[in-house]
Amino acid sequence: MSRADQERWDARHTAVSASGEQACLPPDALRGRLELLPAGGRALELACGRGAVAVWLAQRGFAVDAVDVSGAGLEAAAALATRSGAGDRVRLVAADLDDGIPASCPGPYDVVVCQRFRDPRLYDAMAARLAPGGLLVVTVLSAAGDEPGPFRAAPGELAAAFGAIAGLQIVSHDEGNGAASLIARRR
Ligand SMILES: C[S@@+](CC[C@H](N)C(=O)[O-])C[C@H]1O[C@@H](n2cnc3c(N)ncnc32)[C@H](O)[C@@H]1O
Repeated sequence: MSRADQERWDARHTAVSASGEQACLPPDALRGRLELLPAGGRALELACGRGAVAVWLAQRGFAVDAVDVSGAGLEAAAALATRSGAGDRVRLVAADLDDGIPASCPGPYDVVVCQRFRDPRLYDAMAARLAPGGLLVVTVLSAAGDEPGPFRAAPGELAAAFGAIAGLQIVSHDEGNGAASLIARRR
């Protein structure tokens, strides 16, 4: 990622921090389907931003590795984890995912979440980090029900990409209104 892009993300996270407190939230794709979440174990969140999902998972007992390139995002995530009493279960990792999933996050993980960040070059690596029975939860911007754009998945992208990965079973795939979500499980 370019320095300018990183500074843009830092500025965005800093502005949100200044605007008030932040909640811990389940991954978008799991709302209404929380029964799919494993009982506990290790979790990885890619592009965790301000940590809402990472800390939500930690509150449910997961030991979470949360990766982002933005120092401001990670600072907000650290503060949220501490405020939520889950600081000892969240490990924040500063890394540029353009270089792949960091070597310090080898897994295996019982849950891998990536939402509102799309890099198809990471799809295989995300699936490879799953433990047997582990759950993958992905949400991206999509051209389905919206205009195509450089950061948007083409309709069907998630189902085609993850459906082609051996040992992965797609549990659900939804797209429309400019978003696409996929939940899959490692057999
Ligand atoms: C739209 S935010 C989503 C944050 C969080 N996943 C959520 O759902 O609220 C996108 C995040 O991706 C991070 N990001 C963008 N490009 C990245 C990269 N190459 N490596 C690591 N993080 C990146 C940004 O810093 C930002 O926190």
